[in-house]
Amino acid sequence: MNHNYIIPNEWSIIEEGFEATHVTASESLFSIGNGYMGQRANFEETYSGETLQGSYIGGIYYPDKTRVGWWKNGYPEYFAKVLNAPNWIGISIKINGQELDLNTCKVADFYRELNMKEGWLKRSFKATLKNGDEIAVQSTRFLSLSYKEIGVIKYDITALNFSGTVEIASNLDAGIMNQDTNYDEFFWKVLDIHESDNKASILSETLKTAFQVCTSMQNIFHLNKNEIHLDKKVIKEDKQISYQFQIDLNKGDTLSLYKYAGYTQSMNHPKDELVATSIKTLINATKLGFDALLNQQKQDWAKIWETADIEIKGDVKAQQAIRFNIFQLNQTYTGEDARLNIGPKGFTGEKYGGSTYWDTEAYCIPFYLSTKDKQVAKNLLLYRYNQLDKAIENAKKLGFKNGAALYPMVTMNGEESHNEWEITFEEIHRNGAMIYAIYNYVNYTGDYNYIPEFGMEVIIAVARFWAQRATLSQAKNKYVILGVTGPNEYENNVNNNWYTNYLAKWCMHYAAENMQRIESEFPADYKRISDKTNFKETESAEWYKIANRMYFPHDENLGVYMQQDGFMDKEIIPVSQLPKSERPINQKWSWDRILRSCYIKQADVLQGMYFFENQFSTNKLQKHFDFYEPLTVHESSLSPCVHSILASKLQMDEKAYEMYLRTARLDLDDYNHEVHEGCHITSMAGTWLSVVQGFGGMRNFDNKLSFNPTIPKQWKSYSFKINYRGATIQVYKSHDETQFTNLSDTPTTIVVNDKKMALAPEGLLTYK
Ligand code: BGC
Repeated sequence: MNHNYIIPNEWSIIEEGFEATHVTASESLFSIGNGYMGQRANFEETYSGETLQGSYIGGIYYPDKTRVGWWKNGYPEYFAKVLNAPNWIGISIKINGQELDLNTCKVADFYRELNMKEGWLKRSFKATLKNGDEIAVQSTRFLSLSYKEIGVIKYDITALNFSGTVEIASNLDAGIMNQDTNYDEFFWKVLDIHESDNKASILSETLKTAFQVCTSMQNIFHLNKNEIHLDKKVIKEDKQISYQFQIDLNKGDTLSLYKYAGYTQSMNHPKDELVATSIKTLINATKLGFDALLNQQKQDWAKIWETADIEIKGDVKAQQAIRFNIFQLNQTYTGEDARLNIGPKGFTGEKYGGSTYWDTEAYCIPFYLSTKDKQVAKNLLLYRYNQLDKAIENAKKLGFKNGAALYPMVTMNGEESHNEWEITFEEIHRNGAMIYAIYNYVNYTGDYNYIPEFGMEVIIAVARFWAQRATLSQAKNKYVILGVTGPNEYENNVNNNWYTNYLAKWCMHYAAENMQRIESEFPADYKRISDKTNFKETESAEWYKIANRMYFPHDENLGVYMQQDGFMDKEIIPVSQLPKSERPINQKWSWDRILRSCYIKQADVLQGMYFFENQFSTNKLQKHFDFYEPLTVHESSLSPCVHSILASKLQMDEKAYEMYLRTARLDLDDYNHEVHEGCHITSMAGTWLSVVQGFGGMRNFDNKLSFNPTIPKQWKSYSFKINYRGATIQVYKSHDETQFTNLSDTPTTIVVNDKKMALAPEGLLTYK
């Protein structure tokens, strides 16, 4: 199988020629979403080859009972699965009694395009059926950004070499399963199938979680562009409903089916109004019509691109890749709803449970902060704020007290739902990312009020966790944190992971400092927060005490912080000396061998130095990069981006570009041979960071927005825009010059090459 078949194009993802081994990968790559729901690029018509059916609705999940070999106290009861939702796209076709199935007929001129500029998916092909009949098919579909509960398909069939009968069945199917289930169970039950006035709907409910979803459709036909009425037969089964139509076509005729469909669901509507609401939504969509909906879609995407776009000249593959990453992030999360989040696979697959990881706080927030209104990132912060009680409960279950919180490694509703002990119990650094995200938000937006209003409660609960999780080592006369897994998941149950200890120290300081500031500047909030959290002033002193005596493993000879205690006892052999045949090690080696090795899955010490770059000299950073990067296998999609950013900072241009390529086209070129499972959505934010923070050198520390742009020699120029405190700043970099333009009417100040510069409205700064 060729993993490199996507045709380079600046604005579209394109596949030419039908290749059955590409089907599942393309289903992921050509996925569409509107932040509310998503759809893999499954064919509308019957397909008997290998496929992963996937229709998803944000926030809807099933708690699949935990399945482990040996139960350990404290394990979560379930793993939250993102649900494959009822399928609304099905359109099966028979020509003179022969089923159209790309797996069994001859296919020519197959073309598929995901137009990222305008937000639609198109597929066209010619098929010769077993009886020799030839048809041309073109389908266009999109999920409306303006009308979030609506998906539309226009499906055209042209009779190329025959006159004859076409049978069309347009379906809704709630008899779907997840590929990923622990016990091979159905996750849905059907409550009602409703049909009237040419509209059909299925009301179904998730088992255990009792989310209700009404999936509905209406079908309109045109023959050679004129609307026609076709009589239908209604076939109702246990979990499906289908409208069957029949028409005789003359050679050359084109029949078009406009299928308006979508979901209404109980997170947004009262359960007893779901069916009526879905009918109303269908009526509205049909009234607007396909063309108007598509026009609106184009406008909505144009608005997104206005600030989110990155333009790269001179390298079409890099251009396509960065837009693909930005496009997918916008398809996954649109930011209006603080109950939704960004699963590692977004709406493109089932893996990872589709839940929320630390990826959001560590990687995604800066992307949304810079390209959208600040409310979007705020909603991501509020998601965690709203789940604080659950995080406190989670910590309590593990034996912590006094309002200490441990945020889950994986969640859908605030409860922990990951059930590998070394991650669930030990990968506690995620708690620090929650606070880092708040710090990042305030630094970026200047909206300090978020802390007294919401953030402080979270910060206190997390600081309490760290204070209880650290122990005073008599031998070291320092506070230590034992039995953890750092971001590098190729080490478990280690003591004093430097990154974790550093974050813990920082969080406790940050908590104490902010409580002090709130006490003097926001006395009413101080009182409310203290009452609500039962905060005692002695706690701040305790946080300072522990933070100031935190232990950090360090190798004096190397002058390098150690990833954890005992790291230098390992055999240190750079990754470059591993035979190619042994990589990726997570597929080729036993877990035991991986754990004992020096190989690092993803940035760990370097993740900390990236977060807190302002606290380390360039010299120090270089030393750590030179020590750790050669030992890093980058087997997490989150790894190359951090290394690319740091390499840019260290002027290691080749390395920066090598790492950039690994992150940017990870899915499009399927580097890890796993794109069929879904795309790596959260690491796409890392790709964006590699351009803006990496090559663009954007930093945001100490209330200053600074830039230090460089350009890969493979590119002619690049430019990006960011929102910053009401201003829109465009950064343009070519080999000859650097420009900063303020496109807004808000004056701002930026720091370029360490010099503070005012950027007036419409102002331009040029550097040669
Ligand atoms: C990484 C984690 C990450 C998760 C989801 C894992 O492979 O090691 O850091 O949170 O994937 O993206």
